[in-house]
Amino acid sequence: MRSIGVGIIGCGMISVNHFHALSKLENAHVTAVCDIDPEKKKSASSQYQVTGYTDYRDMLKDPQVESVHICTPHFLHAEMTIAALQAGKHVLCEKPMGMSIQEAEAMKAAAEKSGKQLTVCFQNRFNGASKRMKEIITKGTLGAFRGGSAFVAWNRGENYYESSPWRGSWQREGGSVLINQAIHTLDLLKYLVGPLQVQSATMSAKRLFSVIETEDTCDMLLVGREGSRVLFYASNCGVSNLPVQMHLTFEAGELHLNGSLLTIRDADGSRMEDYTEALAVGKDYWGSGHGPLIADFYDRLQEGRSPAILPEDAMETMQLLTAAYESESNIRRRKPCRQ
Ligand SMILES: NC(=O)c1ccc[n+]([C@@H]2O[C@H](COP(=O)([O-])OP(=O)(O)OC[C@H]3O[C@@H](n4cnc5c(N)ncnc54)[C@H](O)[C@@H]3O)[C@@H](O)[C@H]2O)c1
Repeated sequence: MRSIGVGIIGCGMISVNHFHALSKLENAHVTAVCDIDPEKKKSASSQYQVTGYTDYRDMLKDPQVESVHICTPHFLHAEMTIAALQAGKHVLCEKPMGMSIQEAEAMKAAAEKSGKQLTVCFQNRFNGASKRMKEIITKGTLGAFRGGSAFVAWNRGENYYESSPWRGSWQREGGSVLINQAIHTLDLLKYLVGPLQVQSATMSAKRLFSVIETEDTCDMLLVGREGSRVLFYASNCGVSNLPVQMHLTFEAGELHLNGSLLTIRDADGSRMEDYTEALAVGKDYWGSGHGPLIADFYDRLQEGRSPAILPEDAMETMQLLTAAYESESNIRRRKPCRQ
């Protein structure tokens, strides 16, 4: 089997998960890296013994690079994805899918025009507990979805924002807790019990307003089929990164997720299943999903199949996000604290 050459753009925090996942594959390998920061480029290219670039447009001319992973700040996702597709490369883009619906649509159109594959990194769909929930819901034994709640209480301090100036900026991050951290939980909800729509949302800066101009807290009400509704709350003001909690109530049972612990209540009673996995690399709140998502992407490319997460699927999550930010725009009227 031929191994696909991969170029990674952006050698910051999350790139480690991409390097690690690719190192485990036989059908894909890293062949080039790119970072605008010459030190980061040098460090990654020498560590992985691959060609290094500081300008991603140069990397896109490299014939060894057949597929590109975009691990850069949010405001660069659309531009880089479209350029890579136009250069004839497949693209695995870190979340979010751009910063607006217009950007996401342009990314999807570029993929269609190029005939290359595009996917977005929602790795939590590949967690053991998520897959089990999807399997149970798809089987239909729990009956119709009635509603539920999702709760993300994480901690991001001043240092997190001060160390990376793109974070906390409307122009470069596009928001904060919702578009960056809680996007995974929103995407998972949509994947499990969608379609959903935002009925109303509130964004606020409760604690981090001295370092960010965006929201550190978001709450919203989502509505679904047959009057179902989901309460959603996310904040970066916690003192630690609590396991994500999700409670889903159905006609004939319930699913309760607490991190990687899944409690199932159905006609057979109540039982808990533990999907905790040893973490090979990265932060525990990123989970272990990058490995299976990236492996699945390359298995499918090799077999000529479309990715599991299609552009139109990722776009639906962008639509929910955008609706939430548009629903509550008060915070945008605040004067930016960064000049
Ligand atoms: N899937 C997840 O769980 C997860 C977790 C963390 C981050 N992310 C996503 O990964 C992306 C990167 O986040 P991060 O935390 O690694 O950020 P980071 O700031 O640590 O890294 C970004 C890197 O991109 C580089 N860069 C910036 N402009 C560039 C350019 N023009 N050309 C080449 N390189 C450039 C920076 O120098 C930096 O090294 C974001 O989209 C973020 O939302 C995803």
